[in-house]
Amino acid sequence: MSGNLGGKLVLVTGASAGIGRAAALAFAREGADIFATGRREDALKTLVAECTALGASARYLAGNLDQESFVQRLGKEAAGADILVNNAGILNYGPLLEFSRSDMEAMFATNVIASIRVAQIIGAQMVARKSGHIIMVTSGAARQVSKYAVIYAATKHALAAITKGLRLELRPLGIKVSEVSPGMVATGIRDNITSPEAVAAIKARTIKALSAEEVASAIIFAAAAPANVMTEMLDVRPNGST
Ligand SMILES: NC(=O)c1ccc[n+]([C@@H]2O[C@H](COP(=O)([O-])OP(=O)(O)OC[C@H]3O[C@@H](n4cnc5c(N)ncnc54)[C@H](OP(=O)(O)O)[C@@H]3O)[C@@H](O)[C@H]2O)c1
Repeated sequence: MSGNLGGKLVLVTGASAGIGRAAALAFAREGADIFATGRREDALKTLVAECTALGASARYLAGNLDQESFVQRLGKEAAGADILVNNAGILNYGPLLEFSRSDMEAMFATNVIASIRVAQIIGAQMVARKSGHIIMVTSGAARQVSKYAVIYAATKHALAAITKGLRLELRPLGIKVSEVSPGMVATGIRDNITSPEAVAAIKARTIKALSAEEVASAIIFAAAAPANVMTEMLDVRPNGST
């Protein structure tokens, strides 16, 4: 246990799988109260049961962050969150010239607009209480561009800019804003990729991916820092190859 997370209410978006799920469990082990959200209700139910088995208080709300009505409802039900892990995201790969409008819109809707809306609503509550911590999960793609993941990189570049701007505006108000920027992580985020070029490019990678738990430990590190310490940015990269 890191000591100062006990009893903190932590809202984790994208908690039904991957990094968000691992982060929710890691916070539960630290004694935090968990509010988990994602679209898959069964996965959230299982997560809440696992958090409860660890001795944590845990709740969930299932829904689609691309829908404004759901974001508003989430803001009300998770009101008072001390820590927001703004993590939900999607990844579509494919050659830029062939990228469909719907795939572009879906990525910007979830990775950028939904992330901003959650940060706005929960951030305003934190400002009113003069305390809180927003942890944004971006990506190595927030600062570099690779073939076939150009639109994803564009969404993550945007998210990094938003994170920086949020920090500029909220730091004087006593709110911490951290960015956790992982390299490749072994999760299901690439499971739906069909573009043959993209599948071949992913297969050709020799990097040993991080585990979701390894990224979660970086999120805990940022969250557990003493009150006067703001971890602005954690670049978390795999150390090795397959
Ligand atoms: N995996 C990597 O290599 C990697 C590297 C760097 C950064 N990241 C970033 O890390 C974050 C988590 O990714 P991951 O790898 O853990 O992916 P993942 O296993 O696919 O999990 C993504 C999570 O986001 C949720 N989500 C997606 N769209 C949503 C929507 N419209 N409304 C509500 N929830 C939604 C999913 O829940 P439902 O499906 O239940 O809705 C799921 O819980 C993302 O922002 C991703 O860009 C990932």
